Amino acid sequence: MDKKYCIGILGGGQLAKMSTIAASRLGFDIAIMDKEMRSPAGQLTHNEYVGWVDDELHIRSFIHHCNVITLENEFVDHHNLKFIESLGKKVYPSSTTIALIQDKLLQKQALKKNKIPVPKFIEVKEEHTFAAIAKILGPTFVLKSRKMGYDGYGNALISNEKEYNDAVKHLSNRHINLLAESFVNFTMELAVMVVRTAKETKVYPVVQTIQKNHICHTVIAPAPISKKNASFAENIAIKSVKAVKGFGVFGVEMFLTKDHSIIVNEMAPRPHNSGHYTIEACVTSQFENHIRAVMELPLGSTEMVKPYAVMINLLGKPHPQKNIDIYHASLKDPNIHLHLYGKNGTRVGRKMGHITIVGDNLKKILKAATAIEEKISL
Ligand SMILES: Nc1ncnc2c1ncn2[C@@H]1O[C@H](COP(=O)(O)OP(=O)(O)O)[C@@H](O)[C@H]1O
Ligand SMILES: [Mg+2]
Repeated sequence: MDKKYCIGILGGGQLAKMSTIAASRLGFDIAIMDKEMRSPAGQLTHNEYVGWVDDELHIRSFIHHCNVITLENEFVDHHNLKFIESLGKKVYPSSTTIALIQDKLLQKQALKKNKIPVPKFIEVKEEHTFAAIAKILGPTFVLKSRKMGYDGYGNALISNEKEYNDAVKHLSNRHINLLAESFVNFTMELAVMVVRTAKETKVYPVVQTIQKNHICHTVIAPAPISKKNASFAENIAIKSVKAVKGFGVFGVEMFLTKDHSIIVNEMAPRPHNSGHYTIEACVTSQFENHIRAVMELPLGSTEMVKPYAVMINLLGKPHPQKNIDIYHASLKDPNIHLHLYGKNGTRVGRKMGHITIVGDNLKKILKAATAIEEKISL
């Protein structure tokens, strides 16, 4: 065989780590760029670049090493991605897609333009007051940072003037950086992973996601919804990815309402927390299919190999246990798959790892996973 292909990933967190493991199994080399040394993915490769894409010399030497570039989060400035493309290197997803997604206002506008249902939204301007927005969106709405929001950090639920004024101050020092959208009184949150290349589009089963404090806590696959709703959600997810000209893996988050409408909340241009279960529960994981898509290879089957899967995030808790106690507590159940990300520090609420369990009886595996998660403090 000739020299290995090298895939460059911008960002070295858990999504890059799990993509690296999938890439490595396929015999690819990985190069990681992250601001921090020894990031979860950086620990797995000799091609570790510490720095960021805004450093031109640094990015030049990084991309020289790589055949193709991808990213593990949408916070890479699209201008930097455009620069990489101008040097003749392919980036998946492209700078055009990232420009549309990394700004939640532009993202919503792109979805709306393509007739994809989204909550009613407006751009928040300097002259806006609580009353003016409430008049348009209703008495309760969600204020969101247009950029850099994740795990609920950029969001605030607003139902009075004081909450509005506090949130504007807290979320941004400039009104132009915010959008506001109607509060959706959903009955369930759903997510769909889509993988797309120039030749193929495949979709993973629709899952239910349960958020606690705006952070994904539990994922149930497949979602307990009718076949009709599931196929509707799948179609909306595919349309959403096409709306932003997306190639690679995408996670599309949605709300299901009482009257069975499905409304898109947001999309992520990368492997997604709601797709971690695919490692053990599907023929091809979201990470492997992302790598395949980035390498323009045929995609693997997205079908589940077991009827049900449950994934629970292990979030940082106030009093972390010793590592060895965590292994003993979680591995006591022989059916649990434990993933610890190897992050350099713990913080309450930080995603430190996850557990997945697959099986024939949903109630049983949900109970088993919940019991293990309650015993672990990372
Ligand atoms: N318009 C809305 N109506 C009701 N709940 C919402 C709305 N927007 C967000 N949320 C809740 O907040 C969570 C996080 O919001 P999201 O916009 O997905 O931000 P993040 O980028 O932090 O994931 C959602 O999963 C949902 O539970
Ligand atoms: Mg979200």
